[in-house]
Amino acid sequence: MKNTLIVPQKLPRHVAIIMDGNGRWAKAHRLGRIAGHRAGVKSIRMVVKTAREVGVKFLTLFAFSTENKKRPKREVEALFALLKQFLIKERKELIKNNVRLKVIGDIEWFPESVQKEIKKTVDATERGSAGVHIAGVHGLTLILALNYGGRQDIVQACQRITKDIQRLEITPSEIDEKAFASYLYTKDLPDPDLLIRTSNEYRISNFLLWQLSYAEIWITPVLWPDFSKSVFLEALISYQNRKRRFGMVKNA
Ligand code: FPP
Repeated sequence: MKNTLIVPQKLPRHVAIIMDGNGRWAKAHRLGRIAGHRAGVKSIRMVVKTAREVGVKFLTLFAFSTENKKRPKREVEALFALLKQFLIKERKELIKNNVRLKVIGDIEWFPESVQKEIKKTVDATERGSAGVHIAGVHGLTLILALNYGGRQDIVQACQRITKDIQRLEITPSEIDEKAFASYLYTKDLPDPDLLIRTSNEYRISNFLLWQLSYAEIWITPVLWPDFSKSVFLEALISYQNRKRRFGMVKNA
């Protein structure tokens, strides 16, 4: 699949990915589940690099769901370790390439040392490669969904809206879709245009429930550790050929 098939004007601005199949990949290779996650980090590096190269502006990766907390302690700790390693190892590279890191989800639950590396990378990449904050300098915003759940996002938004109503900062009649969205973790981010899910699962799995309303969905049987540049480009090209109507009639 050649890069030349990418039409910049038709690219999705925001791509969201449910990275699935690390466990199945590990099993197929007679390895432990943690080795599967480790192999998955390589695909993360590839999608970030490719998204930046082709000109995708926002990339959201479902790295740790609220449900993932229920996995065996050893696996959860390994995911923390991989995340921490990723943040430390990739920080310089992200800054150099003007990639801004953002996090959605409740990271208070994560170990202090992981939270520290997250905040450090978020702050450092916000300033960009020039070391100073200049609005609009970032080529790509990488959003990691960490301890994220779509329902939990909507619930925390409702809690904060209720508080603001009590404090008389907003009235119920002022809450329209735009106002509601500004209370979600994704405030200031455009809704995803394309949702990719690997390993042949046909579910949203409590990902960006509100934000995915009109996203185009692309599913592949490829397991996340095998997700290659050519498969990613195939998804982008498939998106370019979709007709998005947002519930309306064409040429109305
Ligand atoms: C699903 O595979 C994937 C995850 C639980 C999260 C993805 C995490 C990584 C790629 C590694 C760490 C993240 C970062 C940001 C460095 P699965 O275990 O559900 O696969 P299965 O359905 O085949 O068991």
